[in-house]
Amino acid sequence: MKKLIIINGPNLNLLGKREPNIYGSLSFTEFLDEIKHKYPDVMIEHFQSNIEGEIIDKLHDVGFNYDGVILNAAAYTHTSVGIGDAVKAIETPVVEVHISNTFSREEFRHQSYISPNARGVILGFGLQSYELAIQSF
Ligand code: DQA
Repeated sequence: MKKLIIINGPNLNLLGKREPNIYGSLSFTEFLDEIKHKYPDVMIEHFQSNIEGEIIDKLHDVGFNYDGVILNAAAYTHTSVGIGDAVKAIETPVVEVHISNTFSREEFRHQSYISPNARGVILGFGLQSYELAIQSF
């Protein structure tokens, strides 16, 4: 069985309530239930943190024994050299995802410290971005 983990960064715990015009009105728990049903042959774990160091620690924990990481580092995508370095340091391939099309938004969202070391990047498809990432493994 493939072992994947979705790691969500800051403010993504508010999905469903936060700016629903951009991020949709489904909570991540609801979405995850649906996706686990749809892909019973894949083990899909989920971790969310608003704290940069906790995301780095989690990448270290899973980075040598999982088949894949699906990472939405949220705002840290655009600021965190530390998370970028962690993605580079681990062996497990990381697919970077974003719910919104970050390139159609403010200039500061066009920069990513994750992308150079990601296996691929999927963005702009709403929560479906996560599903496309699961399918890529
Ligand atoms: C996001 C895009 C980021 O720019 C933003 O800071 C987020 C969410 C997305 O999934 O669209 O929090 O990563």
